[in-house]
Amino acid sequence: MLSGKNILIGITGGIAAYKICELIRMYKRQNANVRVVCTPNALNFVTKLTLQNLSQNEVGIEEFELEKFKPEHISYADEADIMIIAPATANTISKLANGICDNLLTSIACAFQKPIIIAPAMNCGMWNNKFIQENIEKLKTANYTILDPEDGYLACGYNGTGRLCSLDKIFNKSIELLNREKKLTNKKIIITAGGTIEKIDTVRYISNFSSGKMGIAIADSAYNQGAQPVLITSVKVQKPYKVIQIESATDMQKAVFDELEDSDCVIMAAAVADYRAKNIANYKMKKTSPDGEISIELTQNPDILKEICTKKTNPNQIIVGFCAESEDLIKNAKEKIAKKGCDYLIANDISRKDIGFSSDFNEVTILKKNGEMKALSRATKAEIADKILEEIYG
Ligand code: CTP
Repeated sequence: MLSGKNILIGITGGIAAYKICELIRMYKRQNANVRVVCTPNALNFVTKLTLQNLSQNEVGIEEFELEKFKPEHISYADEADIMIIAPATANTISKLANGICDNLLTSIACAFQKPIIIAPAMNCGMWNNKFIQENIEKLKTANYTILDPEDGYLACGYNGTGRLCSLDKIFNKSIELLNREKKLTNKKIIITAGGTIEKIDTVRYISNFSSGKMGIAIADSAYNQGAQPVLITSVKVQKPYKVIQIESATDMQKAVFDELEDSDCVIMAAAVADYRAKNIANYKMKKTSPDGEISIELTQNPDILKEICTKKTNPNQIIVGFCAESEDLIKNAKEKIAKKGCDYLIANDISRKDIGFSSDFNEVTILKKNGEMKALSRATKAEIADKILEEIYG
């Protein structure tokens, strides 16, 4: 089942480390290539020799091995299709959530661009600790898959939440993520994200509060599923896929149309400014108005979404719009999907503080051209992104 797949297992220093010996065997039985990397503390619970024999590979512990040409953490990260950190201690979780790379395992995880599963195991007090919970939330919003620990008798003598989840759960989740990888192979998906920046003069601009998080989450999800995303955005990001950095709506329009021809899908998650300054001053405007007032003449920006819908380059191209509303969400969304002519419209309520603009969470309703609707309950933007792509591609 897993022939040709490279599974990277990271073991940290918790008593549940001994259980991972069996997890390695589960992958080996399915013909996967398994590599194990341990934190130095993990070796207090399980030996290097055991892990080496079970995985039939050298076990990584030290970050700096002089005889190797390529930096170790990069070669591990490049080779693996998925990384599983189990058990994940409170210490390693907190390092990962804060970008700390002080051993081989944390350095690999930091460089890793493919799915990462984290299976925490620790004392119940540690699991419920405010900072650990905050760090878990941070990892969730950064697209890590967290398999929550379970309730029961803990090795430290307490009864509570903290036991490593079952090995079957880890194994099955990894298979699901590995299979998900393939679903969008060779699909070119254009995603726009963030607000546009409309200059007034050389130092000032009109924009909006869009963070771009939803669009970026969709691009990440598409990439994780094997697609070739093209992210067109005003947000400064570095990704392992193509990113076209733009400022204004007209820059975005040009970038979208430059990429449109051979694309399979366009997802317009950007908050495109409806208007721009009619004339952009090529100097810094002075505060010289005698009555304390100033008027800036605005002109309408092109409606990129509407334009793409009328200029599909092939009949199978899927066009998805977003709809940000602060009142009458569904009524306005129904009118908008008809007006724009797109295949799907993702409607979200931007008046709520707990979702939408700048939040890491969202709650949306997906409208289809044929009138069908599907509500997605509140979840991280990464989870919503997966569900949107699932709705489009099945
Ligand atoms: N959109 C676009 N070009 C514009 C304005 C919006 O392509 N000039 C796209 C957005 O990316 C989004 C959809 O159209 O996918 C709806 O955007 P929204 O701001 O909700 O609606 P508007 O068309 O701007 O209409 P209004 O502001 O009047 O609600």
